[in-house]
Amino acid sequence: MKRIDEMNLKNKKVIIRVDFNVPLDKNLKIVDDNRIKESLTTIKYCLDNNCKIILLSHLGKVKKESDKVTKSLKPVATRLSELLNQEVKFIPATSGRLVSDAVNNMQDKDIILLENTRFEDLDGKKESGNDPELAKFWASLGEVFINDAFGTCHRAHASNVGISKYIKESCLGFLVLKELDNLLPIIKEPERPFVVILGGAKIVDKIGTIKNLVNIADYILIGGAMAYTFLKAKGIETGKSLIDEESLAFCKEMLDKTNKIILPIDHVKSLDMESDEYLIGDNINSEEIGLDIGPKTIELFKSYLEKAKTCFWNGPMGYYEKAIYQKGTKALCKIISNLSITSVVGGGDTASCVINMGYKDKFTHVSTGGGASLELLEGKELPGISI
Ligand code: 3PG
Repeated sequence: MKRIDEMNLKNKKVIIRVDFNVPLDKNLKIVDDNRIKESLTTIKYCLDNNCKIILLSHLGKVKKESDKVTKSLKPVATRLSELLNQEVKFIPATSGRLVSDAVNNMQDKDIILLENTRFEDLDGKKESGNDPELAKFWASLGEVFINDAFGTCHRAHASNVGISKYIKESCLGFLVLKELDNLLPIIKEPERPFVVILGGAKIVDKIGTIKNLVNIADYILIGGAMAYTFLKAKGIETGKSLIDEESLAFCKEMLDKTNKIILPIDHVKSLDMESDEYLIGDNINSEEIGLDIGPKTIELFKSYLEKAKTCFWNGPMGYYEKAIYQKGTKALCKIISNLSITSVVGGGDTASCVINMGYKDKFTHVSTGGGASLELLEGKELPGISI
């Protein structure tokens, strides 16, 4: 697929697929607007080219009619207007007359944002099922399709893959190009030692990535709830810690196969994960729950990171929803921010942690894609990029 800077966009009507799947709180306020901010480069480039801009995005998964209330993109249109200092017209529809009329009435440099593309999933999974009629309709709205939704590139949906089949010209936007520039060298030619840090709870979603990274990385440091599954697979007592039971056999297989995997040697633990009382110790007894990596583990991980030239990090080190269990994650942010190495953070929760803790600028790259960056590191070709 072509790059946006190889295209002639002058005065064109462009459709940009962005990933505005941002977290909203219960009052529908945006909690983290990083994905919106990161999309500005492409949008501004199109404005400089005098384009009419039609934005498409999903937000969350839409499974029932009531999801329409909590998963509307309206707050995103407001935030984007603020960031661009220009009106972004929100169209409360995804297809039909309301959309075609709004597009037909656009002037140069106008921006419109259609409603959540996944509202179409309520009518037979048209968006997620890559319905050709829906893709044709969206393609009919513009002259050039720009895929700038890196976070969605591992999906083959109507609004990112389908649409490109029915429009004359397609290209990748600056956000996607920046992601590829930062993520691909990590698996192709990492400067060594290459240290991977993995955390979070679920291993099952990361099996492919772990399998690939075990071959590429020099060391894999494991924290978060994921570490307890690995420890249990080693026969170590993990008490009432969160265990991903279905991944125990995989963890054992990995531990037997390689000695690159480095596990925590001490823990922050509690009898009740919601209580504010915690202990630090080398072991977890049958009544305890491991909730963060301990100070000895932080020092151990630091010793590997200090030797590294490249580091990739996906997954928090502890139960970061509770401030007292953010210490391990914060400590790693601080350690990495003091090193002159290539440091890349996979998207999702880890990106939110790094941004909220104020360390975004200290990393070489903080990806906007969670699943997409993991699939890329798994060595997979992403459908949204190979279109
Ligand atoms: C993400 O947040 O990872 C992307 O926006 C994709 O969302 P999805 O997992 O709901 O397809």
